[in-house]
Amino acid sequence: MKLRVCLFVLIGLVVALPVSMARFVVEKNSLSITSPEKMKGTYDSAIGNFGIPQYGGSMAGNVVYPKDNNNGCKEFNHFSISFKSTPGALPTIVLLHRGSCFFALKVWNAQKAGASAVLVADDIDEPLITMDTPEEDGSSAQYIQNITIPSALIGKSFGEKLKDAISGGDMVNVNLDWREAVPHPDERVEYELWSNSNDECGVKCNMLMEFVKDFKGAAQILEKGGYTQFTPHYITWYCPQAFTLSKQCKSQCINHGRYCAPDPEQDFSTGYDGKDVVIENLRQLCVFKVANETATPWVWWDYVTDFQIRCPMKEKKYNKELSAGLDIKKIEKCIGDPDADSENLVLKQEQDAQIGKGSRGDVTILPTLVVNNRQYRGKLEKSAILKAICAGFEETTEPAVCLSGDLQTNECLTSNGGCWRDNAANITACKDTFRGRVCECPMVDGVQFKGDGYTTCEASGPGRCKINNGGCWHDARNGHAFSACSDDGGVRCQCPTGFSGDGVKNCEDIDECKEKKACQCPECSCKNTWGSYDCTCSGDLLYIKDHDACISKTASQGKSAWAAFWVILIGLVMAAGGAFLVYKYRIRQYMDSEIRAIMAQYMPLDGQVEVPNHVNDQRA
Ligand SMILES: *[C@@H]1O[C@H](CO)[C@@H](O)[C@H](O)[C@H]1NC(C)=O
Ligand SMILES: *[C@@H]1O[C@H](CO)[C@@H](O)[C@H](O)[C@H]1NC(C)=O
Ligand SMILES: *[C@@H]1O[C@H](CO)[C@@H](O)[C@H](O)[C@H]1NC(C)=O
Repeated sequence: MKLRVCLFVLIGLVVALPVSMARFVVEKNSLSITSPEKMKGTYDSAIGNFGIPQYGGSMAGNVVYPKDNNNGCKEFNHFSISFKSTPGALPTIVLLHRGSCFFALKVWNAQKAGASAVLVADDIDEPLITMDTPEEDGSSAQYIQNITIPSALIGKSFGEKLKDAISGGDMVNVNLDWREAVPHPDERVEYELWSNSNDECGVKCNMLMEFVKDFKGAAQILEKGGYTQFTPHYITWYCPQAFTLSKQCKSQCINHGRYCAPDPEQDFSTGYDGKDVVIENLRQLCVFKVANETATPWVWWDYVTDFQIRCPMKEKKYNKELSAGLDIKKIEKCIGDPDADSENLVLKQEQDAQIGKGSRGDVTILPTLVVNNRQYRGKLEKSAILKAICAGFEETTEPAVCLSGDLQTNECLTSNGGCWRDNAANITACKDTFRGRVCECPMVDGVQFKGDGYTTCEASGPGRCKINNGGCWHDARNGHAFSACSDDGGVRCQCPTGFSGDGVKNCEDIDECKEKKACQCPECSCKNTWGSYDCTCSGDLLYIKDHDACISKTASQGKSAWAAFWVILIGLVMAAGGAFLVYKYRIRQYMDSEIRAIMAQYMPLDGQVEVPNHVNDQRA
């Protein structure tokens, strides 16, 4: 148990968990071995409660077992060991033994030596536990905040198997997968933050306050957009019956020992008492309740951050006046009378909620974040938490804030994430998302690229010729420009008329004169040009390109032949038009008589009714 139980037992406080039922659920990620063949499979590992697990993502790496310092308690550079992987190689996942120092120190030392993740092998056979940070402040506090790599505890026997394989010269590759670490049952994520209004507990309290301040913006966007439903919770203790009249219980509890909190500075004689903390917890709960009733639950974040600034207990500025614009009377009513010898509905609910339900397990680490009823493990830090919350959405339903700059993995910065790239046009298929980078052909200036995203992407559809000429040949000479690209789908690149070639790299001018493609009449004289040809006719004749023929400019045989042609053509068109009109008229007459016949069958049953003129009379 990570609550400071010893302290409270000494002074008579008990956390409201029925001890016989206490159930701490270890949150797991999936670890699968991809090589060597003989070890392939999926193994259990427990997510460490520090560092940044890649919720929603996965990480493939090569497992390394250091020859020296294999419990990781000393700095690796004293042994000239580095875990930095060479560019292009898989990241290094370091295997270390449990024992001799804090979990967090091992991970910190490995991170400093270049590790991308750490697996800690348990030293006894037992069910997996959650690796947590040391409780006390001091030197450890300085590095814990700086741990950014994920870590996981693995079972003793699995650890030995790994070690043997590596020592035996096998290349061991694993895939750490956090994609299923948070369930995503629907399009809304429910999450809870279990905290305490006490701000004097040192590193953990500061970390919590820092987090609330940083996360407020994102939390409010998510809540206002209806993407999440957030509920704040406060851990509450109680005083055993026998002690309710003791001085300690009186100073730390309200409602006759029913709801307590430890003294903020753990000194009963000075400063605020545990009682003040409980009342403030209760007030924050009531703020949420009243805000939620007016459909503005996000006001809680404003209240809590305002409280940090205006009423910090550690600066002796605690007072009861804040309201964040809510109805003070309602809040006071919700708080009730702290001296009454009766239950407080709100705090009673908190004590009940503390007991694990379904997959969640009891809340015993303070602060704790619960996402979709799963306890979050890892650093309490904005981008890490957003990752965990975003992993709670079904893929493709996550809101924009999940894909914003805050969450980018920046994998595209190094060798373009291994995705397709057109250096000339400065276009890439690499996209950073909270799930890691994806290689997806982009949309540029409204033009969609298509392809596998890794080796090929090609502009497609309307407008594709705007971009790098659709990857097709194009050239211009003497003020004439030709392109092998056309927007209307079909063939990708095709040399324009007057050229031949593959359409991509080259299109060669066709010499129409030499190839006898045009300008072949006896009067014609042909001269090739780039992409076309010039044809002139001898004497007084005029070249008509459409017909590739020479005709006389004055009224002549040629012209009268054309005139005759037009006369005949117009005659034919008129005849066809007349025939069509006659046909239409006949059809209409035929239809009219048919309709009359059909109506006559149904309408005149009484023998005296005429065929109605208006067919839209529906009473018939
Ligand atoms: C942790 O990071 C901060 C800011 O980046 C730095 O100032 C501090 O020295 C680091 N602490 C340790 C122990 O490396
Ligand atoms: C907040 O309001 C919503 C909707 O009105 C409700 O479903 C939810 O249970 C409320 N939460 C609490 C803690 O009262
Ligand atoms: C490529 O485009 C990105 C943004 O789209 C820009 O930041 C970068 O400077 C460009 N690089 C070059 C070489 O033009």
